[in-house]
Amino acid sequence: MHSRQICLASRPAAQLEPQNFEVRESPLPTLENGEVLVRNTWLSIDPSIRLRLDDVVPSGYLPRFELGEPLVGLALGVVVDSRSDDFVPGDTVSHMLGYRDYAVVSATAGGLGGAGTLTTVEPGTWPLQWFLGPLGSSGLTAYVGLFEILGIEPTDTVWISAAAGAVGSIATQLARRHGCTVVASAGTRQKVDYLVDALGASRAFDHHDGDVGALLADAAPDGIDAYFDNVGGGHFSAALDHLRPHGRIAMCGAVSTYGTTAPMPSNLFQITAKSLRINGFRAGAYNHLYDSMRSIVGPGLRDGTMLYEESVYDGLGSAPLALIEMLNGRTRGKTLCRL
Ligand SMILES: NC(=O)c1ccc[n+]([C@@H]2O[C@H](COP(=O)([O-])OP(=O)(O)OC[C@H]3O[C@@H](n4cnc5c(N)ncnc54)[C@H](OP(=O)(O)O)[C@@H]3O)[C@@H](O)[C@H]2O)c1
Repeated sequence: MHSRQICLASRPAAQLEPQNFEVRESPLPTLENGEVLVRNTWLSIDPSIRLRLDDVVPSGYLPRFELGEPLVGLALGVVVDSRSDDFVPGDTVSHMLGYRDYAVVSATAGGLGGAGTLTTVEPGTWPLQWFLGPLGSSGLTAYVGLFEILGIEPTDTVWISAAAGAVGSIATQLARRHGCTVVASAGTRQKVDYLVDALGASRAFDHHDGDVGALLADAAPDGIDAYFDNVGGGHFSAALDHLRPHGRIAMCGAVSTYGTTAPMPSNLFQITAKSLRINGFRAGAYNHLYDSMRSIVGPGLRDGTMLYEESVYDGLGSAPLALIEMLNGRTRGKTLCRL
């Protein structure tokens, strides 16, 4: 039996191109004790993959992909064979060996900072792929960033960047439901309208429309109390300038800097001057909060008071295009590849 995998064919220049990837086919190894064979059905397309395509990756993060190596990422699938007492054929599972059609997965190994451990998923009446999106890692990331890291209060004005994406769209709605005033930013006029008209943001702006600091000052003339940072770079720098004293930043991601050698912002002294609190986090360390997150997001999705969108690409070969389109702002909501 063989597996088809998306492999790194060449290291990207500034722009990621389809030719940086290739589909390779290789024989699947015989299952060892404690291993499970999974037929993948849904692949999560995540910005952080971009970091691992370069020669040099940030220390302390996940290792770079070697040339010819298959990519990995969160995935959902069905167990077709098992040599683990904990999984039987027919089980629906999540795990970290995405970017391929069949995967031999260790039943015990963790991965992706805690997010990728082989786990049974019981979708009930939910669409299965939502366990990669609002009921999965994207929902958990939004929930942790807002409630564990920022500790949002109803009186807060909160800025959320990349707000029409997988994490940002859930964060925008959770903050709004909590009573916060939400300023949201994204990369197209359609996304800006969607943020205000559908997701409940009080103000929204397109980050292409000028200096981000000026756009933020216009949207929140009295400043902001908290910033949920999905973008980094100039967005982070703008937040430092516009946070009120004792403001907070949750450093969730820095997608504008992935694949670049962006310099540090020159206004870091604002952190001291305004007694700001800045916390990075990796949602995989908060798996114990899945139930808490789902107890809020689930009913919201069920009764229609929360919305969820997805951008779906069909077939394993479309995964590189999905990644490129997502990084370039051409998707909305959660980006997925359906096998
Ligand atoms: N800490 C964690 O555990 C964790 C977990 C998951 C994700 N993350 C991070 O969270 C962030 C969002 O992830 P996601 O999965 O929800 O992705 P996403 O928001 O669905 O997709 C990324 C979006 O970022 C925006 N973007 C790309 N380049 C940009 C730039 N130069 N300036 C401004 N915006 C830019 C684009 O939308 P626009 O149209 O708005 O430009 C793009 O569609 C990423 O930084 C990711 O690495 C962190």
